[in-house]
Amino acid sequence: MNFVGIVGTNASFSYNRKLLWYMKKHFGAEAAIEIHEIVDIPLFSEDIKEIPVSVRELARAIEASDGVIFSTPEYDHSITAALKSLIEWLSWGDLHPLTNTPVMIVGVSLGNMGTIFAQENLRQILSSPGLDAFVLPGNQFLLGRAAEVFDETGALTEARTIGWLEHCFASFQAYTQTLKPLRGAGEDRTSSENKPLAAQKVLEAGDDWKILDIDLLPKTESDADTGASQKEDETDADTGASKHEEPKVATPSADANVIDSGEGWWIEAINLIDAVSVDSTTGASKSTHGKVAEASEQPDSSTGASKH
Ligand SMILES: Cc1cc2nc3c(=O)[nH]c(=O)nc-3n(C[C@H](O)[C@H](O)[C@H](O)COP(=O)(O)O)c2cc1C
Repeated sequence: MNFVGIVGTNASFSYNRKLLWYMKKHFGAEAAIEIHEIVDIPLFSEDIKEIPVSVRELARAIEASDGVIFSTPEYDHSITAALKSLIEWLSWGDLHPLTNTPVMIVGVSLGNMGTIFAQENLRQILSSPGLDAFVLPGNQFLLGRAAEVFDETGALTEARTIGWLEHCFASFQAYTQTLKPLRGAGEDRTSSENKPLAAQKVLEAGDDWKILDIDLLPKTESDADTGASQKEDETDADTGASKHEEPKVATPSADANVIDSGEGWWIEAINLIDAVSVDSTTGASKSTHGKVAEASEQPDSSTGASKH
């Protein structure tokens, strides 16, 4: 897989740059990470009518990749102004390269909290309309004590930290693979007609709606591109019948207290609430589980609700 790694700062020295370079080397055998700097990205302004070349180049690189890894510093509990400015460019005009793009967030800071606030901030920004990125859920790689965790070659030194990073990156690769069918399914925002991208198959469409075939289900044949299931539909050699069993139709058990039903569904009273009696002197409730409750305290036999 090919990923774009974005260094989330314009500072000439950066631990987050170090982290991305470490990831590029450490995961080199399983994925290519192309590292991009944001040093040359001008501060976003709506007044600038021409989108800067540096922004367009980065947008093109993102579109050509399978996903993006942001390595974000934390400045004042948020991302840096430089990174926010880049993201504003990427959400503007005809540029929306992050739409439906898998994103992994990592970050390293000097303190103990390891960029937790900046990462939450970035997660929120990336889900706004105009960005619509698919940010990997969970798998937070928060690296604190930046000055102590790299050796002189730029490698991480703690085995547990490396193990967690490997876990998070494996999750990101699986996530990216799973979302591949959706990658091209973003709207073409450059068109006033809001046309679907060419790769999409439109199954049905009306004036202001359409149903897209995004093909999320595993295929029965090997798919080299998506890695979807390679399971063949086995057939019995004698009868030719498919060996896959039809799903069994569920029915309520014989002792079920069925209070309503229809085709393929039913509602059972499951009587979760114990009957309770109240001690008249202390007001404390006593569970009558296993005892016979006073008639007035007994729950309704069909709904389990108290008759009070
Ligand atoms: C303006 C500014 C604000 C900062 N605010 C935070 C902060 O809120 N939380 C934190 O953990 N570190 C904060 N730091 C310290 C950064 O963690 C530290 O500078 C770190 O090295 C930045 O990442 P970088 O090395 O990739 O540039 C701040 C640093 C600066 C310059």
